[in-house]
Amino acid sequence: MTNSTVHFLLNNDVVTIENIDPNLTVLQYQREIQFNTGTKEGCSSGDCGACTVVVAELTSKDQELKYKSINSCICFVGSLHGKQLITVEHLKQGAKLHHVQQSIVDNHGSQCGFCTPGFVMSSFALHKQNNTPSRAEVVEALAGNLCRCTGYRSIIDAAMESSEHAEADSFALHYKQTVQQLNHFKQLPSVTLANTNHSYFAPKSIAELAQKLIAKPNATLVAGGTDLALLVTQNLNTINDLVYLGDVAELHTLENNDEQFIIGSAVPYSEFTPMLNDEYHELGAMIERIGSRQVRNNGTLGGNIGNASPIGDMPPALIALGAKMTLQRGDSARKIAVEDYFVAYKKTDLNDSEFIKDIYIPKAKPGQVLKLYKISKRIDDDISAVLGAFFLELEDNVATKVRIAFGGMAAIPMRAKRCEAALLNKPLNRDNIAAAQQALTQDFQPMTDVRASDKYRMKVAQNLIQKCYLELQSRNIETRVVNYA
Ligand SMILES: Cc1cc2nc3c(=O)[nH]c(=O)nc-3n(C[C@H](O)[C@H](O)[C@H](O)COP(=O)(O)OP(=O)(O)OC[C@H]3O[C@@H](n4cnc5c(N)ncnc54)[C@H](O)[C@@H]3O)c2cc1C
Ligand code: FES
Ligand code: FES
Repeated sequence: MTNSTVHFLLNNDVVTIENIDPNLTVLQYQREIQFNTGTKEGCSSGDCGACTVVVAELTSKDQELKYKSINSCICFVGSLHGKQLITVEHLKQGAKLHHVQQSIVDNHGSQCGFCTPGFVMSSFALHKQNNTPSRAEVVEALAGNLCRCTGYRSIIDAAMESSEHAEADSFALHYKQTVQQLNHFKQLPSVTLANTNHSYFAPKSIAELAQKLIAKPNATLVAGGTDLALLVTQNLNTINDLVYLGDVAELHTLENNDEQFIIGSAVPYSEFTPMLNDEYHELGAMIERIGSRQVRNNGTLGGNIGNASPIGDMPPALIALGAKMTLQRGDSARKIAVEDYFVAYKKTDLNDSEFIKDIYIPKAKPGQVLKLYKISKRIDDDISAVLGAFFLELEDNVATKVRIAFGGMAAIPMRAKRCEAALLNKPLNRDNIAAAQQALTQDFQPMTDVRASDKYRMKVAQNLIQKCYLELQSRNIETRVVNYA
């Protein structure tokens, strides 16, 4: 059974949408249909944060809400179903500013004001989840918002100070009612939208998803949309048949057992990162550098692998760790190594009607260590020029297991097998590291593009081998830029 209406709460009002073009973004819907123009459009590509809004959604317990900042410019309107959308217009109560807004005023946190609604919404989302954030947490929450005239000190101070003025806001007062309403939406059948040439379907179960893809093998999957929506907002394409994965219960599971982590393909980064961070701290720290908080609140692991970008950040890490994933088509599933998924530039092993179900990440055994290095021009919210992932097992300084993978060095993320061979079963010393650096020139012939030249890529990748060696020799050595910030 399906339902041809998107139901959501806009602030506290129930809104229904039908017969709408599913290619419409939440930003366009807000500004051009609801005429709520407080939310601004800067880049329309997820880079500036001007369009930040907050969605509240039920947690897995169904009786609690989580508040997430998202970039409304790269989020399709159908994905609002079952959620509460909160924009900057909704924060004020009568004439009284919300405490996050009042703090911006008190700290002189706005000059031209164009970026301000986005900062307010990121700060609001942070304070709804965490009453007393540390400075580092504030910086992390605001890293996806650009301001070109005020200067960040006063904005960060404002977000820090918001905790001091905190008092129950209208969302706290309506909490129970919101939970009740969202639970009601959750009971509705799967949403389907149709507009002259475009369709949208949001299956609630994996069986519905599999059936739909068999019937429509050319349908386009959308999870967080943080890659896909750019086809619409930047390339000005339209997508004929969208299938949204955000409501498929079975793609939202997380498992943490003695052997491995199993991550549903549609779980956003912000939900699975804490679990991985406990086992692989460098992986957690690297994920914190994928896009921004807004991107990580919607972006998924399935989407990162699915888009098959040569500069996606997770695949090299997953390949080095020997991760596997399940692909499903109809009722049949197969398990493959993540490294076998990538065939050629943007070409994958995925068949028609098939989708990524979940990803298996093994836990480290004694003596095994993961080292990760993301090279980009900025620390936050920047795409990699090169990403190096090193997974080694060491016994008395001899590398008894070596898996090394790079992103940004070839048309696909891939292992550096000659480099690995130069290190395997040998002591980690300067001579063998030099041999591994040399072997890398046989593994890759990187390309030149706007991010980096071929020579830079090769040099930096070779230097990462040395950096990994130095860090393994002395665990306390501080080689990271962030150690000095
Ligand atoms: C501002 C900005 C910064 C970014 N920074 C980074 C970064 O630092 N590092 C990085 O790696 N990426 C970055 N990205 C890219 C993107 O956010 C990630 O790749 C993210 O993981 C994509 O996930 P998604 O759920 O949004 O994918 P979507 O956009 O929904 O989908 C991406 C592709 O994968 C396919 N797909 C989605 N789910 C599945 C599935 N289950 N099975 C098969 N195919 C599927 C879709 O059809 C589509 O082709 C950035 C994006 C933006 C906008
Ligand atoms: S308008 Fe720049 S992130 Fe959306
Ligand atoms: S106040 Fe002008 S861009 Fe931030």
